[in-house]
Amino acid sequence: MWKPPQRIKFHSSLGRVPTPDEAKASRLFSPVQLGPLGLAQRTWVPAMVPWRSNDEGWVTEDVLQWYGRFARGRPGAIVVEATGIRDVPSGPLLRIGHDRCVEGLQALVQTIHRESQGQTRALIQIIDFLNIRRRPEPAKFFERFLRITPRLRQVLRAQDWSEEAVRAHLSQLDPAQWPEVLDARELEALQMGARERVTDTELPHIRELPQVLPSLFAAAAKRAQLAGFDGVELHYAHAYTMASFLSATNHRTDGYGGDRAQRIRLPLEVYGAVRQAVGASYAVGCRYLAQECIEGGHTLDDAVWYGEQFARAGMDYISTSRGGKFDDAKQPGVGSSAYPYTGRSGYECMPQYLSDEQGPFGRNVAATARIRSAIRSAGLQTPVVCTGGVHNFEMAEAMLLRGDCDIVGTARQSLADPDWALKTSMGMGDQVRLCEYTNYCEGLDQKHKQVTCQLWDRQALDEPGVRKSHDGKRRLVAPPWQPPA
Ligand SMILES: Cc1cc2nc3c(=O)[nH]c(=O)nc-3n(C[C@H](O)[C@H](O)[C@H](O)COP(=O)(O)O)c2cc1C
Ligand code: SF4
Repeated sequence: MWKPPQRIKFHSSLGRVPTPDEAKASRLFSPVQLGPLGLAQRTWVPAMVPWRSNDEGWVTEDVLQWYGRFARGRPGAIVVEATGIRDVPSGPLLRIGHDRCVEGLQALVQTIHRESQGQTRALIQIIDFLNIRRRPEPAKFFERFLRITPRLRQVLRAQDWSEEAVRAHLSQLDPAQWPEVLDARELEALQMGARERVTDTELPHIRELPQVLPSLFAAAAKRAQLAGFDGVELHYAHAYTMASFLSATNHRTDGYGGDRAQRIRLPLEVYGAVRQAVGASYAVGCRYLAQECIEGGHTLDDAVWYGEQFARAGMDYISTSRGGKFDDAKQPGVGSSAYPYTGRSGYECMPQYLSDEQGPFGRNVAATARIRSAIRSAGLQTPVVCTGGVHNFEMAEAMLLRGDCDIVGTARQSLADPDWALKTSMGMGDQVRLCEYTNYCEGLDQKHKQVTCQLWDRQALDEPGVRKSHDGKRRLVAPPWQPPA
């Protein structure tokens, strides 16, 4: 992952640990309403893909154990990982794109409710993404993948050559010559792996996204409701289809790109279709980017405006993230795909302990506070979730008391210690295992390996019943913690 050149080391800390009475009187441990859905407290585990499903996208025993472990810490809500709305091969990513998925998802919801003793609400993040290919071997790229276009022939002055001759010639080129011969997208396909964009409207399936996506999202949301989820989160963030519609890089000319009013059109239409499918008394929110953090990305002013429009449209909550784009991702190795958390924008999404002067803690707070303030100024009470580098009570409580947000998301801190909020609420905050923001977990995610935390994944491996990673070296969930009776 990209790191700020300053490489200043930051250390997480427990901060001021509250007594049980202080915790009880705090805002963090007070209830909050997401439209029709009440949360017992303002702690929130945001979506995290742990690669626990299988090639069919089923809810496996490992998926149940992963979420069951978070639920034992009784956060206000858990958002189940980005789950695909299409029933297409997607590696071990959970799927909700077919009615066959409902039964497994039902078991997942029941696990979260049971293990949290009914204290935690279960939401699910639903996602669409476009095709991305692995970085090819140059020889294979020139032999098979590259389309030989009239433009290429012209550049090579090879109008009369056979296709085989053009391909053979290209294979012999020195890599330094590639930029002179290939156009930007061809060069990207060779050096990074080909990646579809929402602006590729010459491709029928991309052109038709505005016609296809509302019903796909609506059907997925309906399945989430049937499975018993307490709410659904539309994934409008990071490197995926819906965020790409909101992005300032979306220059579609069919009324779904260009200025921000057109860029938000499909996200609002998707929300409208989802709302129609699930009804008014079901919680629907979205996660989107307070800042894209790429050159030419949307501004905070755009994000503030988007937040206001989402709230006006009737979303029950808004959750923010930042960055995490393909646009500045690092070049993957041959045979691997680009990963949207490897560049500067990736750092903004999951900042680690080697940082710049600002540090990795709370980088998303100021932008989220502006979004919330605009929503309140418009007379709307839509709750806002803020996530990024939060790891202790003092920080979370200050964010809530200042009015930066209404709910505090903790992804990696919850992975490091799923009981952190429970311990804190019981006055045992000094027993919290603090995330060190090393991004070991993110490194596993990048390789699509089962995500674990380095602070506990080698502990008590011989404990009876412990489930281990495919290589048998790591436990898959944090060791149990028993609250005192
Ligand atoms: C392993 C891993 C997987 C993630 N998967 C998702 C995801 O599926 N959807 C999403 O919106 N964010 C995802 N994120 C981003 C987190 O939700 C969160 O925004 C980010 O880690 C920053 O918050 P933190 O500092 O509390 O960890 C993931 C993060 C990690 C570490
Ligand atoms: S591996 Fe654990 S300690 Fe390191 S960043 Fe991830 S959650 Fe935090």
